[in-house]
Order: sequence, then structure tokens, then C-alpha cells
Amino acid sequence: MKILMVSSEAAPYAKTGGLADMVSALSITLARLGHEVKIVIPRYYAVDKGKLELLPGAMGVPLGGGEEWSAVYSAVMPDTPEENPVRVYFIDHEVFFGRDGIYGTPFEPDFLDNPRRFTFFCRAAFQLCRKIGWSPDVLHAHDWPAAMAPVYLKFAERLSGGKVKTGFEKTVSVLTIHNLGYQGIYSKDNFRYTGLGWDVFYNAGFEDWNMMNLLKAGLYSADRLNTVSPNYAAETMLQVHGFRLDGVLRYRSADYSGILNGIDTNVWNPAKDPFIPEPYSGENMEGKAAAKEALQKEFGLPADRGAPLIGMVTRLTGQKGVGDLFGPAYGSAWPICRDMNLQMVLLGTGEAWCEHEITSLSSRLSNFKAKIGYNEGLSHLIEAGSDFFLMPSRYEPCGLNQMYSLTYGTLPIVRKTGGLADTVENYIEASGGGDGFMFDDLTPQAIYNTVGWAVWAWYNRHEHIEAMRLRGMRQDFSWEKSAKMYVDLYEKTRAKFGF
Ligand code: ADP
Ligand code: GLC
Repeated sequence: MKILMVSSEAAPYAKTGGLADMVSALSITLARLGHEVKIVIPRYYAVDKGKLELLPGAMGVPLGGGEEWSAVYSAVMPDTPEENPVRVYFIDHEVFFGRDGIYGTPFEPDFLDNPRRFTFFCRAAFQLCRKIGWSPDVLHAHDWPAAMAPVYLKFAERLSGGKVKTGFEKTVSVLTIHNLGYQGIYSKDNFRYTGLGWDVFYNAGFEDWNMMNLLKAGLYSADRLNTVSPNYAAETMLQVHGFRLDGVLRYRSADYSGILNGIDTNVWNPAKDPFIPEPYSGENMEGKAAAKEALQKEFGLPADRGAPLIGMVTRLTGQKGVGDLFGPAYGSAWPICRDMNLQMVLLGTGEAWCEHEITSLSSRLSNFKAKIGYNEGLSHLIEAGSDFFLMPSRYEPCGLNQMYSLTYGTLPIVRKTGGLADTVENYIEASGGGDGFMFDDLTPQAIYNTVGWAVWAWYNRHEHIEAMRLRGMRQDFSWEKSAKMYVDLYEKTRAKFGF
């Protein structure tokens, strides 16, 4: 199959979170399975165009009543099969993308012109296919920034113009929800940039309390929907996790399911990780102790093998449970570090209040150390060197970090939600079963208690901890299985149309 991924992020070019990892890893695995995959993303300022190939000639993209011109760059995705490489195309537009930030900056977290930037980008995906003379069988869009792509396919591009071929008559669309918390809701003045008629505003479901909701339109228009874990698919059809779109998802439930993400086992593998001091595996765990020592040193903590070390790598935003941990009046991190004999390290960036609170906390506690920033190498060392990985997410579509943790023999402490519930198995005290520690309640107290439970097991049931580590390391999170499920999904969607 010919598959076009339309996404605002793809690793290693542009990444704010797991979306970038998922898009690239899935594409590479599909290529290994023999499919022809191309990815299109914007050429953000941070993507060095000196390293890209410029396609000859500029490209016109209809936008609103007029057109915008774009240059197109391309590159071969690293680590793709030589005989069937994944090609990445970059849509270059100085006014829309020639600035710092993907969605915004700390001072302007959501650029005012985002609806225009991403509408332009989605329309450009179709023009790109024309430019390179390539018609995809499947257009796979990811999250709200790409949600206009299935809308254009359904309401403009797939419609045959009589004798004039559009090239998309036999293309079907799949829209993957990576996070229902972000929907792209803007003033409906922005609808004029789509160039679509106001009938489509209503028919495609853009309308949202007198605003324009891009993801909602995508959910109505895509031929098939999915999200990144089976449990999150079920949760999002309920009011509690539906972010007001649970009704839309229930309406489309026949075409909606969950496929668990995999992880890139070339990049996340303790047996060959260049960011850790010594490789290790289930057979020889000495390297893990070396990683713990290096991590303690990195954060200026005493090199104490006996104290349990809890790691965190996270975006500092409400979704990740940081309010319950660091909320100034009631956060649980302070009592956890005060009452328990443990060490804790954190790497993250995000909301300003949280960055301040964490910095202040690490100056007041001797066993809590944090680094504010984004650091790929250090995130590997934290996964490897920690004994436990804390992820108290309020909701979690899939979550990659807990899978990295399990692979590195680091036991996740997680809230039982979304993909966390699909990937971690709770500790059974009586038998020593499971591979992590879980809680249900959305309270600081629940986090406190569960960390306490893990620390208790560390000091009193250490043989269980050792067995749980090995059990986690044996789990198979490679992309192969999930990519095959996407192939199935694509085929089913095409079959619905008789393609
Ligand atoms: P989300 O995409 O919601 O943030 P995921 O668990 O799916 O959550 O993916 C997060 C990804 O981003 C992981 O690869 C994680 O290691 C990485 N990450 C998040 N924050 C940082 C950071 N400060 N430094 C390095 N990597 C980070
Ligand atoms: C989103 C979700 C995260 C998921 C990632 C990749 O960022 O928050 O849970 O793992 O997308 O699908």
C-alpha cells in the first residue's frame, strides 16, 4: 500500500512528545513490512534546510479565496530500510513556519494563526502528492493539526471532477487521536481560510458552540478513526474522558478502535544504548547499577545503592498529574520526599508555575533533584538508572515512558488509566506477580500511598522487585505487532469502499 502520513511532528525532525516518536516508528515499521510510506510535516525554523534536498519549483496551495506559495524539501528518514526508504517531505512557508516553536512559544503557547498555519499545511499535503505524481491509497492523519486533511479528502479532493482526475478518487483516510485534550478550537472567522463552503462548516461538524473545532470536523470526516490504546478508545467514549467529544466518538463507534503504540527498540534498548555507561540485559544487570550511580552523580545525589531511586521524565502539564504532585498547597512530592527513605529525580519542561515549584522544591529537599529542560540523552539515563518510574497521569492515551521503563527493568508507578492500564500489571503482594504499582484515585494521597507501597516492597520484598524487573524486561513492545494491526485497519477501510 501507498501510505501518506500527515503530521505536525516526526522524530528526529520536530518533536514535543510521543506523537513524533509514534509517527516515525510506525512509518519505518510499515516500510519494513513492504509498504511505501511518505511523511509530510511543516519545515519549522529549527529543521536545518541545509541538510535537506530542495525539490525544483515552488508549489501553489489554495488557501481561502487565494493561494499561498510553498517550497518543498525532502529527506530520507534515518534508519529506514535501504531498499524501501521512508521519505519525509517538508512544507516550507516563511510566514507560517519561519519562526521558533511548533505550536507556540512560552510567551504565546498557541500561535494566533495556528488555524491558518495548519489548514495551509493540510491542503499542501494534497498539492505535494500532485507535485511528485503520487496518489496514496491511505492518508493517515494524526491529531488536530492534521485533522483538516480527511476533511479536504472527503469534501473536496476525493470528488471526481468529471473527466478531470483528482488523483485521490481511491484514497481513504484514517485519523489517529493521540490526545483528545487538544482539539484546535478557534474563532470561526478562521473558517474562511479553508476555502470550503459554509455548508461544509455544518456538514463536516466544525461547529462547536459558535466556534470552529478542527479535530471534531476530522472525527466526522475521516473514513476510519482510532486512538493509541484500546483502553483509551473505551474511555474516550465516556463523558469523563471524552473532552466533550464523547458523543461524536460514540456516534462513530463502529469505525473507532484502539491500537497500542509500540516503542522503537533500536533506540530504547538497554543492551545497546549509547547514553548509558554500560549495556545490560536480563542476564546481566550490573550495567543497571552503573547507570544508577551515573544518574545519582549527574543529579548530585549521594551514590547510595540501597535507597530506591524514583525517576520522572515528563511534560509539566496537568495531564501528567503534576498538579497532584507539585500543586503548591497540596502536592504529594514534598511529603513523599520528607517521609520516605528514597531519592527522586525529574527531567521536564512545561507550565511556568510548575517549573518554579519544582525548582523551589529541589532547593528545599536533599533527596529531590530536578533539571528543567529537554534532554534526550538524560531521559535515557533516567529510564536506565532509576528503580521506579513515576507517571501519575490524570489521563494517558498511550504513554511511551512506562514502556521504556519496563524495557529497562525500571518499575512503573502509574495511575490506572488509558494506555498505562493496558501496559502495566499491578503488583500482587501475595505472589510477587505483576510489573508495576498502580492506583485509581485522582488524589495526591493516592500517589503518596502507592509510592509508599513501592518503597515498602523495595525494603521488605526485594526478591519480588527483582522478579518484577525481569518480567517487565521480557515484555514485547516492538512495533511489529502494532504496525500489522494498522495494515489491517487500512485494508478494512479500503474494503469498505471496495478499493
Ligand atoms: P506525551 O507525548 O503525552 O508527552 P509520551 O509518554 O507518549 O507522552 O511521550 C513522551 C516522550 O517525550 C518520551 O519519548 C519522553 O522520553 C519524551 N520527553 C518528554 N519530556 C522530555 C524531556 N524533558 N526531555 C527528554 N525527553 C522528554
Ligand atoms: C500523545 C499522548 C501519549 C501518547 C503519544 C503517542 O502525546 O499524550 O499518551 O503516547 O501521543 O501516541
